[in-house]
Amino acid sequence: MKNKKFYINTIGCQMNVYDSEQIAERLQRIGFVMENRVEDADLVIVNTCSIREKAEQKAFSFLGRLAKMKREKPRLMVGVCGCVAQQEGQKIVERMPYVDFVLGTQAIERLPAAIERIERQRCRIVDVNMAQEIQETADIPTCGNPHEISRFVTIMRGCDNYCTYCVVPYVRGRETSREPENIISEIKSLVANGVREITLLGQNVNSYGQKQGLCDFPTLLKRINDVEGLLRLRFTTSHPKDLSDGLIAAFRSMEKLCHHIHLPVQSGSNDVLARMNRRYTREKYLEMVANLREACPEIAITSDIIVGFPGETSEDFEQTKALIRQVEFDSLFAFIYSDRPNAPSGRFKGKVTEKEKKQRLQDVFDLQTGITQKIHASMKGTIKEVLVEGTSKKQVAENQGRAIDAVQWTGRTSGNKIVNFIQNHVSHVDTGIQVGEMVRVRIEKTFPHSLRGSLITGDSGHSLAKGDESYAA
Ligand code: SAH
Ligand code: SF4
Ligand code: F3S
Repeated sequence: MKNKKFYINTIGCQMNVYDSEQIAERLQRIGFVMENRVEDADLVIVNTCSIREKAEQKAFSFLGRLAKMKREKPRLMVGVCGCVAQQEGQKIVERMPYVDFVLGTQAIERLPAAIERIERQRCRIVDVNMAQEIQETADIPTCGNPHEISRFVTIMRGCDNYCTYCVVPYVRGRETSREPENIISEIKSLVANGVREITLLGQNVNSYGQKQGLCDFPTLLKRINDVEGLLRLRFTTSHPKDLSDGLIAAFRSMEKLCHHIHLPVQSGSNDVLARMNRRYTREKYLEMVANLREACPEIAITSDIIVGFPGETSEDFEQTKALIRQVEFDSLFAFIYSDRPNAPSGRFKGKVTEKEKKQRLQDVFDLQTGITQKIHASMKGTIKEVLVEGTSKKQVAENQGRAIDAVQWTGRTSGNKIVNFIQNHVSHVDTGIQVGEMVRVRIEKTFPHSLRGSLITGDSGHSLAKGDESYAA
């Protein structure tokens, strides 16, 4: 299997990004090398998402492309992983003769063995077994890209919440938390490889550890906060029904915990929330927002909204808009409701028309755009700590009538806002700033999706490397 090339197409949420990294890791261990062009790969895997019909269609249209490729290159190996693989299983191999293997969401550790068997026996494999426990590999994960300073770490799998619209409990299985020791040793090894920011992943991190009697989520955060060399800690997603006082207090006391929470509200109508089985009310949600802001006044709050849930009346939708106006989220992801296999809401009465759903989506978008712009505008003139993630592009800037090279750096604030800033430099040898460094930037211009500013130099509070003189002030 030496020097065979693999290509992974990842669709869906951060969990899938993490899983694709795990897949890549395992393939590299058995001699495969990563390939960035799908046409040049010997093995193509599509890591699929089933959250909405559109995501599923995306996977099938990519598979259609692979069918054509396989006709021209019969030795190409094609695999389907992730949530659609779990959901459809056997049906995929029956419908698509060019697919060699289908591995469900809990079968990643069995991937190397599956590939070996296919190569040996020229067979096809479907493995959608749901393991009872999380299989931990003793090996230390490696950092794929040496310039990657931000990585995801899954702390729990599955979901037990059964929101009535959602496919996740069916495709990811029961909620299971990883042992804190395994999580911490993974984070330590990532940090040793240069990672500076970790985002912890779970469908509902607030219930971490409770089922198995491990430590609770704030305690896990505290232990990770103590990892030397780590600069920033984030997490997603936090279910409002389980948001604890301990977690709210963590925003006050943990210096590495970023001032951002993604707290999906889904709807502003109590009637719709009840039929979604979310188990909180709009009043309770608003109280949580107030408590979070009291503990951490500058906290950025983002959320998810579903429009057109079955039975959502125009009054229900008005309540969602009123809640958005009241909270003033930093940003929102809004989705058109989509019926999903096994999800009970598919059988609920009162389907909203496609036209109405689209109009409601547009209304949420217009409303939120105004709010985001207002929040961004209020940041003008403030100084933000930015973790440098890389250069976004090389530009030629005019400086006193003379064209000089300038590098545009990009990073994010603690509140997860993208900040671009230009660093003029005369020397190509020494650019001063390092990826993974924390710098201070004065915000000068604001846009709907990003901020622009200039580097603050020479003042206290952060390390400035040599070459400071060349910074743009
Ligand atoms: N576990 C997370 C959500 C994961 S899914 C949580 O509970 O917050 C991400 C988002 O997709 C959800 O928050 C929801 O807004 C959206 N979503 C899930 N199922 C959907 C469906 N059937 N139709 C439209 N949007 C959906
Ligand atoms: Fe889906 Fe609800 Fe679980 Fe989130 S908490 S993954 S929306 S069932
Ligand atoms: Fe999609 Fe599965 Fe994530 S359904 S959103 S990839 S958990």
